[in-house]
Amino acid sequence: MTLVRELFVHRRRRLAQLARVLFVLPLGLLAACAPDAPQDTLKVEGPIAEQINRLFWPVFWIAVVVFVIVEGALVVIAFRYRARGQTEGPEQIHGNTRLEIAWTAVPALILALIAVPTVGTIISLSKKPAGDVVEVTVTAHQWWWEYEYPDLGVVTANELHIPVGKSVFITLESDDVIHSFWVPKLGGKQDVVPGRANHMTIKADEPGRHPGQCTEYCGLSHANMRLLVVAETQEDFDAWVARQLRDAVSPADPLAKKGEQIFLNGSWPNGTCAGCHTVRGTGAAQKIGPDLTHLADRSVFAGAMFERTPSNLAKWLRDPPRVKPGSRMPRLGLSSEEVDALVAYLETLL
Ligand code: CUA
Repeated sequence: MTLVRELFVHRRRRLAQLARVLFVLPLGLLAACAPDAPQDTLKVEGPIAEQINRLFWPVFWIAVVVFVIVEGALVVIAFRYRARGQTEGPEQIHGNTRLEIAWTAVPALILALIAVPTVGTIISLSKKPAGDVVEVTVTAHQWWWEYEYPDLGVVTANELHIPVGKSVFITLESDDVIHSFWVPKLGGKQDVVPGRANHMTIKADEPGRHPGQCTEYCGLSHANMRLLVVAETQEDFDAWVARQLRDAVSPADPLAKKGEQIFLNGSWPNGTCAGCHTVRGTGAAQKIGPDLTHLADRSVFAGAMFERTPSNLAKWLRDPPRVKPGSRMPRLGLSSEEVDALVAYLETLL
């Protein structure tokens, strides 16, 4: 009797499990169908990502055909040759040379076929593009991105500006651990490895804002290591470069002025602002944290995890590690007056 009850309970549990899977699976599929998916790799915005898609689709359809044939055969065989009340086992055989050769040769042939465009695409994407190219050195830090345009003399963070219609040749370096740079709409993924310079190219056809993120687990705030690419017309890009090249101007507003003094001279047991950051045109010239000379020109900050609004800046300054676990920016223990003044100052850094 207990055995029957146990079997019944076991079966109910299995059914509940199955129901859960059947419920969760479509949810996952639906999530992938969000109409506005800013990181949708299948709706690309540039020729590099397009080239990767051109490789993806044939490989995908070959995989679909293989899946249907293999799974179909499995279902048909399982159904057709199922035991129908026999008491004896089936006839025992050993091996089938012809079948074994076929199921070894056919996959090998398919893989060889897929390898031709795959290797071709990899080689083509790894080359530095010819012609007029914008060069950017991207340095990954736990957990933010530093961008340096060596030919333009610009250094910035988290928000990457690129002109449309031009190839952007990126050199990837890491300051600490392995990260991976990914802007799904504009190009592929590339690992960022300490002690190595990896390269990749991105290119945008039209102006637009494209989110991306670190895609290699790199510690506590890996999920907060986001980025934003702003693709803009050559004119807007040139204007942006011109703004970036200016030094910071000391503010006239009294509250912002007070904030500047706190930024440059304030000192707490856990550190100082100027001890980690650069604001060109002031005495602050350290490179541990992002260059803040034009922070107010960016729409995001702290590894692009926040929109740059005064309230988000204040939230961040009050306790960085609380909002971004593991952050190297410590909790300074600022008073609310100090936070207000600092936010007022940071908002002048255009
Ligand atoms: Cu950087 Cu994950």
